[in-house]
Amino acid sequence: MRVEENSAAAEYVQGNEDRELRRLMLQAQVYAPLTEGVLRAAGLKPGMRVLDVGCGVGDVSFLAAELVGPTGEVVGVDREPRVLACAQRRVESRGLSHVRFQQSSLESLPVEAPFDAIIGRLVLMFQPDPVTFVRRMVEHLRPGGVLAMHELELAAMGLAHPKLPLFNRVWGWMLPTCERVGIKVHMGMELVSTLRRAGLVVDDGVVGGRLGVTPDAETTHALVETVRTLLPHMERLGVALAMEVDIDTLAARLTAELRANGGVLVPSLMVGVWGHRPGPV
Ligand SMILES: C[S@@+](CC[C@H](N)C(=O)[O-])C[C@H]1O[C@@H](n2cnc3c(N)ncnc32)[C@H](O)[C@@H]1O
Repeated sequence: MRVEENSAAAEYVQGNEDRELRRLMLQAQVYAPLTEGVLRAAGLKPGMRVLDVGCGVGDVSFLAAELVGPTGEVVGVDREPRVLACAQRRVESRGLSHVRFQQSSLESLPVEAPFDAIIGRLVLMFQPDPVTFVRRMVEHLRPGGVLAMHELELAAMGLAHPKLPLFNRVWGWMLPTCERVGIKVHMGMELVSTLRRAGLVVDDGVVGGRLGVTPDAETTHALVETVRTLLPHMERLGVALAMEVDIDTLAARLTAELRANGGVLVPSLMVGVWGHRPGPV
């Protein structure tokens, strides 16, 4: 996908190859329990109509579908045809009649029947203007309705114990690359102010991460796949050389480092914040 350094558009940097679809699903597996907790705490319940903005291959929509049940409805929207086609295949194979996917950017989504809840994960961090984006989301929300977002706080850099030099190096490549391609590295911690500036009443929030309890846990692989996606930008920006990253051996090297040190890893921290649209219910 197109990303220009410091571009005002700050396009979503990750490409759309099959490998990328698999990466999204792997990442979704890692974050699923955290996102489910955020959606539950935000008040998603049976019978609600929910809009999932930037639904990708559908994982957050599927979590919401569990919570709203067959008497509710989930609509996932995404502007990328390839991810949406994948989400569509997945909903068909699951036989879920209360989930549907629609290809559209949020900006061109017609405002129709308002939703009881609007949710999004890892979508604001790629927007040039997150406040404007949330304002647009709110146009689809009924007064009193819930808006819940789950975003990375990349600047928190994850946690490793004991100190792991290779893991720290990986973050030394990731963070400046993300910043320089226009990703909002503080999106997690900026959620509260973003929602408030968009006119919402903020109700609560949580911070969480997945602990990789075995050296070769999904958390390690998800981190490596993100590095793989960013690698062309790392090279272009002079942040790291392909040779030193050595992407095809990185997972094994991180795993070996964790094993040798008896270490545990929380590759990244996610912040979930939810609020509601003021006004007569
Ligand atoms: C990192 S992915 C996250 C996917 C999904 N929410 C998840 O957590 O698994 C971000 C998604 O947001 C979509 N997206 C970004 N900006 C968008 C916009 N303006 N309208 C609709 N979709 C958008 C991208 O196409 C991409 O699929």
